[in-house]
Amino acid sequence: MNTKITLAAIAAAFSISTLSAQDAAIDFEKQILPILKTSCFKCHEKEHEDNGKIKKPKGGLRLDSAAAITKGGKEYPDENVVAGKPDASWLLKTMSLPDSDEMAMPPEGKGDRVSAADQALIKKWIESGASFGAWKGVE
Ligand code: HEC
Repeated sequence: MNTKITLAAIAAAFSISTLSAQDAAIDFEKQILPILKTSCFKCHEKEHEDNGKIKKPKGGLRLDSAAAITKGGKEYPDENVVAGKPDASWLLKTMSLPDSDEMAMPPEGKGDRVSAADQALIKKWIESGASFGAWKGVE
C-alpha cells in the first residue's frame, strides 16, 4: 500500500468534513440577529415608550429575546420558529410572502424586504436546529 497517498486521502477527507461542519454552524447572534434588528425590531420589540407613545409589539410578537422568538405571537403561538422545520416557521414564511400578501413582513411599504440571501441563511439556521447559542436577549 502506498502510505503517502493514503495519508493524503485521510487528510483531504478530514478537511472536507471540518469544512462542512463549520458551514452548518450558524451563529444566531452574529448572523441572524442583525437581520431581525434591521427589518423587524421596529414593530416586534418589548413594549416601550417612544416619543411619549407606548409602543406594543405588533401581533403580540417579540423578536428581541430567544424565549419570545420561540413563543411566537397571537396567531401562530409555538409556530414562529419550529426547529428543523423552516416550512412550518412563520418567522421565515412571512418574510418570503409577496408584498401583496397581507401577512408579508415587513408589511408592504413599511420597510425593505429581507434579501433572498438572508432568507436562505435563516432557512439554514432553522433547518440546523434553530440554536440561539448563548444569546438570551431582552428579558
Ligand atoms: C412596520 C411594522 C412591522 C414590521 C417592520 C414587521 N412586522 Fe411583523 N407584524 C406587524 C403587524 C401589524 C402584525 C400583525 C398582523 C396581523 O395580525 O394582521 C405582525 C405580525 C407578524 C407575525 C405573526 C405573529 C403572530 O403569531 O400573530 C409574524 C410571524 C411577523 N409579524 C414576523 C415579522 C418579521 C419576521 C419581520 C421582519 C422581517 C416583521 N414581522 C416586521 C408589523 C410589522
